[in-house]
Amino acid sequence: MKKWLVKLGLLALAGALGAAWGSFSFFRPKPVTQPIAFNHKKHLAEDISCKDCHQHVEEGVHATLPAVKACLLCHEEAKGSHPDEPKVRDYAKENREIPWIQVNRMVGHVYFSHSAHVKYAEMDCKECHGDMKEKEEAVTVSQVEHLTMGRCMACHEEKGVSNDCLGCHK
Ligand code: HEC
Ligand code: HEC
Ligand code: HEC
Ligand code: HEC
Ligand code: HEC
Repeated sequence: MKKWLVKLGLLALAGALGAAWGSFSFFRPKPVTQPIAFNHKKHLAEDISCKDCHQHVEEGVHATLPAVKACLLCHEEAKGSHPDEPKVRDYAKENREIPWIQVNRMVGHVYFSHSAHVKYAEMDCKECHGDMKEKEEAVTVSQVEHLTMGRCMACHEEKGVSNDCLGCHK
């Protein structure tokens, strides 16, 4: 067989193995079960913004999940007839925070800051988290797995932001 043909074959094989390995290592963690069936769509139909609940999303590294007292602004008294709704007051009565499970999480060595992207880069939450205004179920799987190192760097490159390793790996 011609040498270049062998090389081409090997390349194709390497590509196929790479793709197989890619999908194999693309393990998705199991969906978590959130303590209360929170519905973003219903809440965002009210006159309320992301920042009212995710308080540090504009000036902090972490957006943060809401404390139960943010819910009590409206749920001091019953709202609607969903079976999970009274649970909000149950937690509050027991003086407990609702144990939400954070599902979007970068691997430990990566530094990500919300304020840099939301405030300075003026990005819409949608670009990374999908349209939360349409989300009726609680978030149970990560929405940011598409943000690989390649994707982060490609946008930085395009926008003229530094791609110094130490910017993202502290
Ligand atoms: C450039 C992509 C990007 C944008 C834009 C973005 N996020 Fe995030 N978000 C992430 C990443 C990445 C994580 C995981 C961060 C970590 O591991 O600390 C995350 C995590 C979160 C979390 C859970 C952890 C935390 O930080 O408290 C919340 C809540 C959140 N984002 C809300 C928002 C809201 C609200 C907006 C818009 C105002 C927004 N995000 C915009 C990428 C983004
Ligand atoms: C601005 C007022 C307001 C705030 C703040 C608020 N809620 Fe609600 N919530 C409502 C209203 C109004 C309904 C009833 C919606 C309906 O039935 O159409 C509701 C419904 C619900 C339901 C029933 C779900 C469903 O699908 O009908 C749950 C559970 C709930 N809220 C939890 C929370 C939690 C947890 C927080 C705090 C993180 C919170 N709410 C904050 C106004 C609010
Ligand atoms: C009334 C309060 C409230 C408002 C307003 C709200 N959220 Fe949330 N958000 C929550 C609660 C409670 C959770 C945890 C339960 C869940 O996963 O649905 C959550 C979870 C999230 C998560 C997943 C966090 C993680 O990694 O576990 C994202 C992303 C998010 N919200 C984005 C948004 C965006 C974007 C907006 C505005 C368009 C918004 N939220 C408005 C209460 C709110
Ligand atoms: C769609 C475009 C886009 C994507 C995707 C993106 N970034 Fe950025 N990032 C920006 C822009 C624009 C800035 C500059 C913001 C400013 O003006 O400070 C920035 C700034 C940063 C900074 C510097 C912040 C500081 O305060 O020093 C870090 C760190 C960072 N991004 C990490 C990440 C990581 C990690 C990811 C992937 C998980 C990511 N970015 C994905 C556009 C993006
Ligand atoms: C804009 C942000 C950003 C910059 C700049 C960046 N990285 Fe990363 N890096 C990430 C993210 C996000 C991940 C985790 C996701 C992934 O593995 O794709 C990661 C993962 C890694 C990993 C682990 C790979 C693995 O398989 O787990 C190494 C090693 C690494 N980066 C090295 C570097 C080096 C060296 C540089 C400088 C040339 C660099 N990074 C620059 C965002 C960045």
